[in-house]
Amino acid sequence: MKKPSRFRIIEDLRAIKRNDPASRGMDFLLYPCLHALCVHRLIARPLYCMHMYFLARMFSQFARFLTGIEIHPGAQIGGGLFIDHGMGVVIGETSEIGINCVLFHGVTLGGTGKHRGKRHPMVGDDVLIGTNATLLGPIQIGSRSRIGAETVVINRDIPPDCTVVGTPGKIVKRSNRRVDPPESLPYSAYRELEIEDEERQFQSAHPAHSG
Ligand SMILES: CC(C)(COP(=O)(O)OP(=O)(O)OC[C@H]1O[C@@H](n2cnc3c(N)ncnc32)[C@H](O)[C@@H]1OP(=O)(O)O)[C@@H](O)C(=O)NCCC(=O)NCCS
Repeated sequence: MKKPSRFRIIEDLRAIKRNDPASRGMDFLLYPCLHALCVHRLIARPLYCMHMYFLARMFSQFARFLTGIEIHPGAQIGGGLFIDHGMGVVIGETSEIGINCVLFHGVTLGGTGKHRGKRHPMVGDDVLIGTNATLLGPIQIGSRSRIGAETVVINRDIPPDCTVVGTPGKIVKRSNRRVDPPESLPYSAYRELEIEDEERQFQSAHPAHSG
């Protein structure tokens, strides 16, 4: 295996070759994920880190216009990301993505609209997320997990080494062994706190119901 490069963009180039058997010769230069990641890594993210938010967003929106991939300049993305086809991908401001992940078109790493601060998913290393999968909230996606096309996961964590499919997403494989019947995903830490809070509010509004 090749030694990882210090430059994440080099890792992104290698990821195209590694993940797309259709890539030949120099045509890796034509991939929209490479264009979007170049703008993100070399322009938008550095501007965001310098608190130049308007310019950062302007460049990220320009990349979105060209590629259909919307990466918020605040997103933290490890090297070797491959976004196949690109169109319709949304990566929110507080998302974190580990190394060597693969996303297909239509993937959303988004917020639920209810949270403030940290509100987008944290994706581990070597994770594959299939087309049109929707992952919402400050959730943890364990390394080496595989999320099927059209899967929906909201406010639930995905353990490492699992295959998760369906709406709502359920674990159908763990460490490559079938899980039958499929297992529900655990609530994210954030959601656990919210449920406790909702319970407290209910108890104070309806004291007769408290045990
Ligand atoms: C999830 C995925 C990565 C396969 O992972 P895997 O660990 O190899 O899992 P398997 O293929 O062994 O599937 C396990 C079970 O889940 C089912 N399954 C797989 N993907 C599914 C999905 N997206 N939705 C519902 N069920 C799915 C399989 O049919 C299988 O069930 P079965 O044993 O009853 O037949 C793959 O199916 C997938 O969805 N890849 C996304 C690829 C994509 O988006 N391509 C777009 C190209 S343009």
